[in-house]
Amino acid sequence: MIRTVATKPYPDQKPGTSGLRKKVPVFQQEHYAENFIQSIFDALDGFKGKTLVIGGDGRFYNREVIQKAIAMAAANGFGKVMVGQGGILSTPAASNIIRKYKTFGGIILSASHNPGGPHEDFGIKYNASNGGPAPEKLTDAIFARTKAISSFKIADIATVDIDTIGTVEAGGMTVEVIDPVADYAELMESLFDFEALRRLFKSGFRMRFDAMHAVTGPYAKEILENRLGAPKGTARNFIPLPDFGGHHPDPNLVHAKHLYDEMMGPDAPDFGAASDGDGDRNLIIGKGIFVTPSDSVAMLAANAHLAPGYKAGLKGIARSMPTSGAADRVAEKLGIGIYETPTGWKFFGNLLDAGMATICGEESAGTGSNHVREKDGLWAVLLWLNILAARGESAREIVTQHWATYGRNYYSRHDYEEIEIDRANALVDELRAKLGSLPGTSVRGMKIASADDFAYNDPVDGSISKNQGIRILFDGGSRVVFRLSGTGTSGATLRVYIERYEPDNSRHDLDTQQALADLIAAADDTAGIRAHTGRAKPSVIT
Ligand code: G1P
Ligand code: ZN
Repeated sequence: MIRTVATKPYPDQKPGTSGLRKKVPVFQQEHYAENFIQSIFDALDGFKGKTLVIGGDGRFYNREVIQKAIAMAAANGFGKVMVGQGGILSTPAASNIIRKYKTFGGIILSASHNPGGPHEDFGIKYNASNGGPAPEKLTDAIFARTKAISSFKIADIATVDIDTIGTVEAGGMTVEVIDPVADYAELMESLFDFEALRRLFKSGFRMRFDAMHAVTGPYAKEILENRLGAPKGTARNFIPLPDFGGHHPDPNLVHAKHLYDEMMGPDAPDFGAASDGDGDRNLIIGKGIFVTPSDSVAMLAANAHLAPGYKAGLKGIARSMPTSGAADRVAEKLGIGIYETPTGWKFFGNLLDAGMATICGEESAGTGSNHVREKDGLWAVLLWLNILAARGESAREIVTQHWATYGRNYYSRHDYEEIEIDRANALVDELRAKLGSLPGTSVRGMKIASADDFAYNDPVDGSISKNQGIRILFDGGSRVVFRLSGTGTSGATLRVYIERYEPDNSRHDLDTQQALADLIAAADDTAGIRAHTGRAKPSVIT
């Protein structure tokens, strides 16, 4: 039986760059999740009888919302849902399922790298039939519906068993519970030289993959240990837990410090990597050397042809604006296009769909390619492994040779988290107001060449996205970028991105923060970060 349930709108359901993210207690309010899911369905057209993919990163409240989504999909007229066993689907795996089975779209439950648990974060996002995040047009339509919603539809069905692989009927709809790993593992096998990787591990190569008790655990176990023969114990913290073991599943140098310390220590394995809550981010650390995500996308692009899936070469590279220009130099050398997009993976989708770019990356540890329409943590790890195997060199050798060839882009991001929203806005407004007067002036002895608020003109659909981050460019190519996070769930987060290009080979082993010290000071001089935020230093430096 289908019930139509009367409801009242919640005013705070505006999806951000990666869907709707709120604390669990917010989602637990009466009809909160239902309202948002119904608003997604209401904003879509033509899905009667079609298939919807449903899965999540396993965090607290995942199972409850999956049951709601199944019952609502049935009531709204979907013909079938495909659900990851145990409610598990990493974001890239969900993107793959949507594409591979030509489904209508998918609902992914995740708050990415944010902590999980009864008082932590939860999220719902919708991905379209290309497997990518809903475009802005659609998220705007969803938001508009959330403000007008007066009822939702739900089928009266018993709890569906999502732990047993197989097909059942529920509310007049087919529910197929699928192995969350198999299709993804098969896709990876089609892109990378698994034979060469098996030989690599057989030869004694040792790696550490930290799944951070999040969704990539089962994927890493199956691919690295079962299929590639890496020793047991290669995948660590591989059981997804609703609260990620109480940790913050963000693979950066703060939250994965134990991995960093191990990789810098005397008994470091050859290669270290980690992924985040929903499996789309990656952290890459070679023995004794951390690879910044901006460098990683450049190095992957420069060497991608060594993997079977990319042997024909790349069509182009896309990077988000705050990501360092290291990839630009690779694109220039390869004679292919380079695209600079606003922050957020959805802007890459058009370029990938149009065949203009093959590899994309963000400074925030997201790297991916045209194999799906999301960034993909394990994909980046496997491409690194394929390159290490093909070149027979260490990560350190590959990195230092890359710098010798292209120069080094020193790069760091300083985050000021949970600052008061008014103070953060005041900083940005003040900076924006003086942009026109900055060019030609000097700060800390460095001359400002240009200053603007980044606007993106999508070359595929012609849409324009304004106010995507304030950039201050200095003579010589150094720059500082300021933007406010669109994914935080409490207060505002100011992100300051600092970059300096160093062509001189003999100056490639400086400490990053020291190499950037003048620019860091210049950023504060220009934007008044300390004065506005009241903070003496950033909360996180990556
Ligand atoms: C952050 C990252 C951005 C990434 C997004 C989703 O967004 O900076 O690169 O696409 O998470 O993973 P932000 O909080 O900066 O808006
Ligand atoms: Zn993520």
